[in-house]
Amino acid sequence: MIPSPTPSVLMQNQITIQKFARMLSSVLQLEVEIVDNTLCRVAGTGLFSKQLGRKLNTNSRLLRYIIETKKEKVVTHSRFDPLCEDCINKEECKEKAFIGTPVIYQGSCVGVISLVAVTREQQERINDNIQEFSDYVCHVSNIFVSRFLQNQSGGDSIHKIFLTTIENMDQGVLVVGQDQKVKFANPVALKIMAATRGGMLGKTLHFQPLTFEDNFKQGHMQHVITVDDKKTLIIGQLHAVQDQWLFLMAFHQSHSSAGLSTVQEGPQIEAMIGECHPMRQLKKLISRVAPGPSSILIAGESGTGKEVVARSIHKLSDRHAKPFIAINCAAIPEQLLESELFGYVKGAFTGASTSGKTGLVQAANQGTLFLDEIGDMPITLQAKLLRVIESREIQPVGASSPIPVDIRIISATNQNLEQYIADGKFREDLYYRLNVIPLRLPPLRERGEDIELLIHYFLHLHTRRLDLVYPGVSPEVIAFLRRYRWPGNIRELSNLMEYLVNVVPSGEIIDMTLLPPNLVSRSKVMVQAPPEFFAASEPQEESVTALEEMERQMIRDALTRYSNKKQAADELGIGIATLYRKIKKYDLVGG
Ligand SMILES: Nc1ncnc2c1ncn2[C@@H]1O[C@H](COP(=O)(O)OP(=O)(O)OP(=O)(O)O)[C@@H](O)[C@H]1O
Ligand SMILES: [Mg+2]
Repeated sequence: MIPSPTPSVLMQNQITIQKFARMLSSVLQLEVEIVDNTLCRVAGTGLFSKQLGRKLNTNSRLLRYIIETKKEKVVTHSRFDPLCEDCINKEECKEKAFIGTPVIYQGSCVGVISLVAVTREQQERINDNIQEFSDYVCHVSNIFVSRFLQNQSGGDSIHKIFLTTIENMDQGVLVVGQDQKVKFANPVALKIMAATRGGMLGKTLHFQPLTFEDNFKQGHMQHVITVDDKKTLIIGQLHAVQDQWLFLMAFHQSHSSAGLSTVQEGPQIEAMIGECHPMRQLKKLISRVAPGPSSILIAGESGTGKEVVARSIHKLSDRHAKPFIAINCAAIPEQLLESELFGYVKGAFTGASTSGKTGLVQAANQGTLFLDEIGDMPITLQAKLLRVIESREIQPVGASSPIPVDIRIISATNQNLEQYIADGKFREDLYYRLNVIPLRLPPLRERGEDIELLIHYFLHLHTRRLDLVYPGVSPEVIAFLRRYRWPGNIRELSNLMEYLVNVVPSGEIIDMTLLPPNLVSRSKVMVQAPPEFFAASEPQEESVTALEEMERQMIRDALTRYSNKKQAADELGIGIATLYRKIKKYDLVGG
């Protein structure tokens, strides 16, 4: 353990490893710490996010033990473990439970990945699932080596793939000539296409890439391959090589997404993926109402795509070349909201800018005003907004005459506004003005048929963005994710796919072992639970409090780490609107 003069191999990849640690922490809902074998902290979340790049001198007994023995260490009750006995830091130690795994590279331990519980709830979860968490972090450690360390040696693995003879590849390979005739197909390609070599060579073959975006035609994606009259849906990459087409099939194919090859009827809205019945109905309705001037109120749980819908409506309307101004009513403090919305003239109040300020409503003139989290608009402002809608003019703070405005209002909420009206928190007259066209976004658990489509959409999006190989997905994973309840809806699915493309070894399949154990165990509870559980919209009281406490702590931690709320929300894997809602709910500073 003599400190090396140059940064360790882990420290050289610090930025990527830190990102990885955050993702691991957010999916496992435990803190993560990664150190190298000189006990230098490479990455960490929560309490462990400080002093990155520095050598640890306290709290390191467990880590030292793992580095020295190259063995995993599990501590279910810190302080009571023999290793903690003589620790001088014992009394201040915030760690309640710990699972640490060595990162073994070329026979030596280059670092330690640890999962740490700092709340009682996290501790119980570790204790209830020791084996699962321990297997999982072990698995992750191996992936980690192949992802961050083997790449160090300069693309050796790619070189080996080149050297493997095409005949023995796990990947299907097709070569098609300029004349569209098949020139070569390896055994795997023939198997995937359910054809024989004799039956395939010389046949005319067409590739039709199924893109999610018109301008994107590279990388792994689904292709409809037509030979004779037979169409097969295959994931792969198409390369033009000297007047010929080389098609490299992805290692693992998803066979049940054949629905994609039949063009869906009804309008396609680029940013809104979904072909299930409710989504098709919704898209039809959107394309019918988008061109008109009427106000639209979008209701839906967090992460269901309310903002996506609002932007799509604007894009489809004849206001698309004019501004789309989004205001999050929960994010702006009550005192500022009025001047933000309506602006003010110079000298309107103490502290007002001397030049005055144009309000957002006026900035949206001729365009669309998106009032997100409308339920959080203070009642006094609701009256003023109602006046704007009725008179079609605004009165900036301190101004003597009103200014006419032409805006289309789209609002969104994930609250039950009818209940708000009953409680006197929302004006009924404003509600009817805003809710001329109600749109309800179904939660993801009601879009079962779309799960597979969305999985591939996000795999495509994240692999392209991060320049990774498009992985396969096992049928068990698809079936599991179709049953999962998705409390965080599409945002949660997107985050999970981003995480999975990061942990799946290049060219391999996402199988059940890669799913975060908390996701699997959460749904086990649901499967074993009585049917009422599914019907109940809220879990039982006790678990709600524990979960809320955990959530509160995670949010508080993120807010101390980032002064920028957008970054804090990104790290937590929630939307900015949700973050503001939670800040309010838990009465945290910074709201
Ligand atoms: N139908 C969809 N197709 C593709 N991506 C989607 C779809 N719906 C939502 N998303 C993606 O999911 C994420 C959440 O969507 P969005 O921000 O619109 O949700 P929201 O309902 O406004 O959530 P919140 O209540 O938390 O503000 C975004 O990254 C968005 O791009
Ligand atoms: Mg939103």
